[in-house]
Formats: sequence, structure tokens, C-alpha cells
Amino acid sequence: MLSFEAAKARLETAGQSHVLQFWSELSAEESSALLEEISLLKPEELLEHCRAAVEAASRHSSADGRLDARMEPVPPEFIGSVRKSDEERLKMWGDEGLLQISQDRVAVLLLAGGQGTRLGVPYPKGMYNVGLPSGKTLYQIQAEHIQKVQELANLKHACRCTIPWYIMTSEFTLGPTEKFFRDNEYFGLCPSNVVMFEQRMIPAVGFDGKIILEKKNKIAMAPDGNGGLYRALVDNKIIEDMERRGLEYLHVYCVDNILVKMADPVFIGFCVNKGADCGAKVVDKAYPSEPVGVVCRVDGLYQVIEYSEIQPETAELRGPGGELLFSAGNICNHFFTRGFLKEVAEKFESQLKQHVAIKKVPFVDGEGNLVKPTKPNGIKMEKFVFDVFKFSNTFVAFEVLREEEFSPLKNADGAPLDTPTTARRSLLAQHYRWALAAGGNFLDEQDKPIPPKHSMTKNKDPPAICEISPLVSYFGEVKM
Ligand code: UTP
Repeated sequence: MLSFEAAKARLETAGQSHVLQFWSELSAEESSALLEEISLLKPEELLEHCRAAVEAASRHSSADGRLDARMEPVPPEFIGSVRKSDEERLKMWGDEGLLQISQDRVAVLLLAGGQGTRLGVPYPKGMYNVGLPSGKTLYQIQAEHIQKVQELANLKHACRCTIPWYIMTSEFTLGPTEKFFRDNEYFGLCPSNVVMFEQRMIPAVGFDGKIILEKKNKIAMAPDGNGGLYRALVDNKIIEDMERRGLEYLHVYCVDNILVKMADPVFIGFCVNKGADCGAKVVDKAYPSEPVGVVCRVDGLYQVIEYSEIQPETAELRGPGGELLFSAGNICNHFFTRGFLKEVAEKFESQLKQHVAIKKVPFVDGEGNLVKPTKPNGIKMEKFVFDVFKFSNTFVAFEVLREEEFSPLKNADGAPLDTPTTARRSLLAQHYRWALAAGGNFLDEQDKPIPPKHSMTKNKDPPAICEISPLVSYFGEVKM
């Protein structure tokens, strides 16, 4: 354990002596918790972190036109599309994906370290139940998808394959996630194939360059962004674990997309078929100013550009057929080869861009009172998982249908977008469509058939409520 003197010296070097301002008021237990926290901070790194945060925050601005002229869309030869491909091609990719899965070469990795502040529940987002008839949580839906896709590969190739599930958590989500899985007996998966690990936390910094205290003995820490994945892979020896298991391909995805198709054989097969080392699923942007990042090239390197980083005129550019030029909306669904991940983790991690988020961070004032700020007071630095695209040698994008694959849960009900209600409706609408396509008929409350062409709108539940377990169908298939 660090001594008080050593902690004081460290903090002085980093210009952060204020962290000990309440020392004389702390109990033995509280002071040892604080020393423990300080012991994890390296003074030079901390100094640099605080300096960089203030500098980045001062530069934090919206579009300045610098990127626009250097952007170009992903060339068509590196894009696959569910919409534009015939059945035969989709089947070929799907077969390739199932073959790789059957040979135990595919794993999935869930990014679940976020704090979910917008949703605002005091537990990990994966434990959220959006109000489906089954009451299933996001974690359970995902676990069942894994089982189903394993089963599809097993049936096709007469094998007993495994898709290991890596779950990146943070200090906020690890404990409750572990407990939830244990309490639910891993939703039928084998615990040795569910590997949870923790990403790092970094201090939130005030505009004056001082780290923020959230309690008299606690620094306000936040996870280092979903791009903290690459450091966490090294810290937790995950690439070695993949190597040991003979895994070659990883599908990385976010916890909050209720429609996510984990280890999607078509996507995996497409990427493998193209010899890609890195790939991204995208959806067609709904409208030019939609606030989703766009996958494109800047100075020849792949990147995701946020809507706020470019001029509206650029977002509105159209190609000869009238389609948006920059239409490849990023949905945080990525393919990586193990070799690529290893290279990124070993060589490029330190080059990843630091993104700045200006947030309201609760703090203790000089008198030790807890203050909940009404306006942003803190800088959080985050790395993003997609910032590695530029290190790829063969990057591909794969366009999928939004209504089949993307409906994120970001906000609490009451917000206009991405709420529990919108997530539940997208899943139920999908299952309703699947049931109709499989030849099902629905009756209304008077037992009259509901016309199959009954209009479906995003703002309403489908005309009949039908939930299909992922254990029954993965793509909407009836039988394979
Ligand atoms: P978001 O950026 O939407 O953040 O994360 P969030 O934490 O879920 O929600 P807000 O912004 O606080 O409301 C996108 C994905 O990245 C993961 C999240 O768990 C989610 O799957 N993530 C985010 C991490 O794994 N680690 C992080 O540090 C941040």
C-alpha cells in the first residue's frame, strides 16, 4: 500500500495535490481506499492526461470544414450489401460463415463497460428488460442467439461447435453482470465459454485541469471508452486466450442493439470471403442530418466521421442515382481477425485518438458538500472502438437492413428516439414480419383475420404481438 507521503509526492508531481484536501477528515478505511486509488495512477501519465484533456476540450468544437474536402465514400468493391445481393450470394456467404463457426474459429465480443447514463438505470444495460412478453433481458436474448447459431452450424456440419463469448465490462458493470449470469445459470451456456474482463478507468478532469473528486476520498473515474477494448485485450490476455482456443475471427458489438445478430454467418462469411482483416456492418443513413457516424475514407484511410464533424452540405451530397454519397451509417458491429487485433494491441493502441466528452460530473466542493452540477463541468476522455479502421490492410463494409439489425437502446422512455419502447417495437415488428413470411396468419380480438398488408408504423406496436425466441429462429428461418 502506498504511504501518505508517497501519495502526496505523486500528486504534487502531477499538479493534483487537492486530491488530499480532506485527508484529515477521513476514517482509516476511507483513507486506505483513497491511497489505493492513487496507487493506480502514474504521475507522468496523470499529468499528461490532465493536460491533454484541457487542451482537447478547448479545441472541442463542431465542424470546421477541415475534413470535408478530404472525405470519400467506401469504394463499391469493398462494400457488400444484403439489399443489393441475390439469394445465392447471401447463401454463399452464410455457408462460409457457418463453416467457420462449425470449425470453432469464431467468437463474439460484447462491449458492456458503458455507464448507460442516458438510460439512467442503476445496473448494467444488458440486464434491462424492454418489456417483451417473455420478460427477457438484452443479455438473455444475446445468450440465446449464440446457442441458436451454434445449433445451425452443428446441424449443417454434424459437429458440436462453440462460439466463446467475451464480455468487456468496467468497474461499474463487472460485479452485477457476473452475478446476473451466475444467478441465471449463464442462460444455458457453459461458463467456461463466457469470459468476462474489465476495461480501465481514467479520471474525469475539470476545465482547470484538476481531477474531480466525487467524494472526499474518491476520484471521479470513468471507463476509457469502448476503444479501451484494445488495452483491455492486452491487460487481460484475451488474444492469447483466443489463440489457445484456435479462434481466428471476432465479431464485436454493443450491448444496446436489441436486433444484433451475433456471429452473423453472412457477415462473417462475407468478410472471410473478401480476405478482410477488419470490417464494419453499416445501415443506410435515414436522412442526411441523422446523428450517426459515417464509415468513409479520409486521406485514403478508413474512419468513422460523426455528423457534427462535417458541414451539412457534405452530409447532403448525393451520387448520380440520387443516393446519399456518405450513407454508410456505423452501427458498432465489427469484424476483426485475431492477427489484426494483435497488431493493433501491440503496435497501434497508443496512437488511437482521444475523444472528448464534456459532461456533468457530480463533485464535492471545497467544503466537502456533494454538488450535482446543472451544467457540464468535467472532461471525460474516451477512445472509440472504430478508430482502428485506419490500421486495416483490407477493410470492408457490409450494408444490412436497419429494420432487421439495428435498434439501439440509449434513452429512457419519454425521449423521441432509441428508448425501451422503440427497441421493443422493433423486435416485435420483426417477429411479426417473420411469422407472416413463414405463412402465419393473425386473428384480431374478434377472431377475424388481420390483413397481412396491415400497415406497420414505427410509432405503434405491430397489429398482433408475437415474440419468437432466438432459440427458435435466428434469421426468421423456419427450419434449416
Ligand atoms: P455508448 O457510447 O452509447 O455509451 O456505448 P453508454 O455507456 O451505453 O451510454 P451513455 O452514453 O452513458 O448514455 C456504446 C457501447 O459501448 C460500450 C457500451 O456499453 C455500449 O455497448 N462502452 C461504452 C464500453 O464498453 N465502454 C465504455 O467505456 C463506453
